[in-house]
Parts: sequence; structure tokens; C-alpha cells
Amino acid sequence: MRIAVIGTGYVGLVTGVALSEIGHVVGCIDVDPNKVKTLSNGIPTIYEPGLKEMMLTNMGRGRLFFTSKHSEGLDHADVVYIAVGTPQRADGSANLDYVEAAARDIAHNITKSVIVVIKSTVPVGTNEYIKKLINEETPAGIKVKIASNPEFLREGSAVHDTFHGDRIVIGAEDLETADTLAAINAPFKMPIIKTDISSAEMIKYASNAFLATKISFINEIANICESLGANVEEVAKGMGFDHRIGPDFLKAGIGYGGSCFPKDANALVQLAGNHHHEFNLLKSVIEVNNHQQVLLIDKMLTRFGGTLKGKRIAVLGLAFKPHTDDLRESPALVMIPKLVELGAEVVAYDPIAIENAKKQINGYIEYTEDLHIALHAADAAVIITDWPDVKTIKLSTYNQLMNTAILFDGRNCYDLSDVKEASIEYYSIGRPNQA
Ligand code: NAD
Ligand code: UGA
Repeated sequence: MRIAVIGTGYVGLVTGVALSEIGHVVGCIDVDPNKVKTLSNGIPTIYEPGLKEMMLTNMGRGRLFFTSKHSEGLDHADVVYIAVGTPQRADGSANLDYVEAAARDIAHNITKSVIVVIKSTVPVGTNEYIKKLINEETPAGIKVKIASNPEFLREGSAVHDTFHGDRIVIGAEDLETADTLAAINAPFKMPIIKTDISSAEMIKYASNAFLATKISFINEIANICESLGANVEEVAKGMGFDHRIGPDFLKAGIGYGGSCFPKDANALVQLAGNHHHEFNLLKSVIEVNNHQQVLLIDKMLTRFGGTLKGKRIAVLGLAFKPHTDDLRESPALVMIPKLVELGAEVVAYDPIAIENAKKQINGYIEYTEDLHIALHAADAAVIITDWPDVKTIKLSTYNQLMNTAILFDGRNCYDLSDVKEASIEYYSIGRPNQA
């Protein structure tokens, strides 16, 4: 098959590379000429394990190319994927401007009938609307069919998830379209769920909302555990053995971030509201998460007698989770300005996300890619991202390097017994303090 992918962000780039790996010829289109130039030079614009090698291999095989010209990318394409962003609008709803622009780009550049596949996360009804938009603007004689094929990859393991995910969902307007997409995806060797378009669109939102709910639920349990002297890790383990609950997404912490859970939860609340359903459960999930992101600040203020003025605080991790340089909705974006506002001197460590952080965080803070430099002479450290080098650091390092070894751990990185042995003053989430 000859495939075009519009948008080369996290989803579009990984999708394009993976489709070329399984044998298709893929043209990846992006409106950002700098991105296209970098990609054409064989340099991925995002950090994803395994992506670069696969990208270079398939560029070398002549199965993968990048362009900023829609006419070039869409030339001879049988199937066109839309993988552009659907960011949050001020009212919480999904902004479909980029999807609409991509649809117009398709309408104005295709020279034959194609299947358009929407991979972006879009509200129920969008596929139908986009199909109408394209068909209205294409030259006479050309007709598009539409299909929803939502993406479930996680950042940081995007390539792995694309080849070893749990399922592929295809919502199509007819069986022939569904079968064509199933055939395209067959080499991924995953269960393929064929359904109607609206259900496919909803599966994506419902899945993200459910996962966000699991996280906020365990975070609430964690906060109650703290008051009652229980340990949330033990509780989550005990719950997770019940296969109806499952062990995943029960890790308590400083709340979920990232480019999708926050925006998709808000978009679903908004979508439901537009149809006179108050999604109160999901509203609470969002509220719990907002509170969770600043919880450690409260703990720090309590520990330091109500002020952080002049305290040197090492912030360990900026990315919203490890193995990505993505800072979108990271708790760091809430935490760092708050620390600065409270008069703290902030030194921030991250192995790969600093360049992105500099674009998003204002105010004077120091950055370092060296964990040891970050800890040097710090009065306290706060863990935001559970990077492997933070998790595996020798605990005595905190005592050796810091002014005072006081640790606020937003990711429960360490065993309480190890922390006790190392004589660190330790505050984590949903577990007894080691003070
Ligand atoms: P992104 O913002 O990283 O990338 C979008 C890309 O599209 C950008 O490079 C932009 O320049 C390009 N673009 C915009 N309009 C264009 C046009 N008309 N023609 C060509 N290129 C255009 O977005 P992302 O994180 O990859 O997310 C894309 C969609 O996938 C969103 O709806 C998101 O919710 C969903 N999603 C994301 C993830 C994730 O992990 N990031 C996972 C699952 C689903
Ligand atoms: C999430 C989903 O897992 C993907 O299936 C989905 O495709 C994607 O959103 C999307 O729609 O964009 P992602 O945001 O990359 O993927 O990362 P996750 O691993 O799900 O983590 C999201 C956030 O939840 C992170 O901040 C993480 O630290 C937090 N989290 C996750 C917890 O606090 N506890 C957990 O148990 C799991």
C-alpha cells in the first residue's frame, strides 16, 4: 500500500515509521519545514527508544520519506492518515482546527479516491464531519471514505507499543473499508476490533478517562493511607492481584501529566456536557489530579515552617514521565513556578528534557543534566520524574552531596527500609514518613 501520514509529531512519526517497517511505502507530511528538514536528514525530532534505527533503515529501503508539500506526500496515496494535534481549547473542548486544515489539505491535493483514517484523538462525530468537509471540497469524481483508528501508544515506549499493543481499533463506515485497514495493520499481529465510527471515537476517550480515573483513585487512597498509617504500595499490590482490578495504573504519585490524559479528560467532560450529561466522576478525577500536583509543596512548607525563602531545592526530573523529553502538562510546570514564587532557589535536573523545559518555564532557575551537580549543597530534593538514574542512585549520595538530606519523593522511588538505613529524611506519597 502507498500511505500518506499528515503530521509528524509523536503519533504521526511513529505511525509512519512503523507502517514503513511492515512494508508499506509511506510519505510523512508536516507543515513545519524545519521538522521535515531534520527528519529528512535522518534525525528524529522526538526521543523514542528504537525509533531512529527503524527510521533510518526504512529511509534507506526507499519506503519512507518526509516532505512539507502535501501534493508530494499525497501523490498516489491509497490511504491517508491524519495525525495532527487536537489540543485543548480554553473551555476544555478539543481544538479541531489542525484536523480541519489537514482535511482541506487532503481535499485540495488528492487526485484519486482515498481512505482517510483519523488517528488523532477527536470527539465523537468528528469523522463524519471531516468526511463531509473533504467530499465537499474535492474535485468532482473523487470521493473519500473515512475511518477512525485511534492511537493507544504511550510516549517513551511508542515503538514497542505500536508493535506489541493490546489491540487495534478500527471504526469504519463499511466492511470493505474496515477490511482494507485490517489488512494494512495485519503484520502488527494484534487483535483487531472492527466497530462503528462513533464507538471507535468513544473507545479512545473512554480508555484514557478510565486510566486517569484509576490514577486519581489510587492517589486518593494514598492520601487517606497517609492519615491512617497504611502504605499505598501494599494496598495497590493487594488490590492488583484481583484480576478484575489488575495491577497496572495503580502507582500513586504526584498526579498524571502528559499531552493526553489532562486534555482528553477535559474534552470528554465538555463533550458529555454538550449533550446534557454532567460527568461528575470525571470532574472529580481532574480535581483530585490538580490537587495532587501541588501536594508536595504543602509538605515542603510544613517541613520548613511555612517558608521556602532562600532554600536551595533540587528538582529531580522535568519530563512528565521517564524516557521522554516531553514536558506537556508535567507536574514540573506547576511545581517549579510555585517554588520560585515561594522564594526557593531552584536547580532542575533532567537527562533529556532541559531544552524543552527552557521554552516553557519562566523565571530564574538553574538547569543541569548531572544529577550530582543538582544535589550539591541542596537543602531539599523533590522527585518529579522517576528516571532510572534517580531510582538507582546510591542513597548515601544524598547524604554526601546535600546540605541537608531531606527528600520529597513524588514517585515513591525507594524502599522505606533502605531510606531508613541511609538516614534520609523522607516524605513520599501514601506511605509513612521517615523523619
Ligand atoms: P504533535 O503536536 O506532537 O504533532 C502534530 C504535528 O502535526 C506537528 O508536527 C504539526 O506541525 C503537524 N501539523 C499540524 N497541522 C498540519 C497540517 N495541516 N499538515 C501537516 N502537518 C500538520 O501531536 P501528537 O502528540 O503526535 O498528537 C497527535 C494526536 O494524537 C492528538 O490528537 C493526540 O491526542 C493523539 N495521541 C497522542 C499520543 C501521544 O502520546 N502523544 C498518543 C495517542 C494519541
Ligand atoms: C497515555 C496512555 O497510557 C496511552 O495509552 C495513550 O495512547 C496516551 O496517553 C495518549 O492518548 O496520548 P502517556 O500519556 O504517554 O500515555 O503516558 P502514561 O504512561 O499513560 O502516563 C501518563 C501519566 O500518568 C504520567 O504522568 C504518569 O506518571 C502517570 N501515571 C501512570 C501515574 O501517576 N500512575 C500510574 O500508575 C501510571
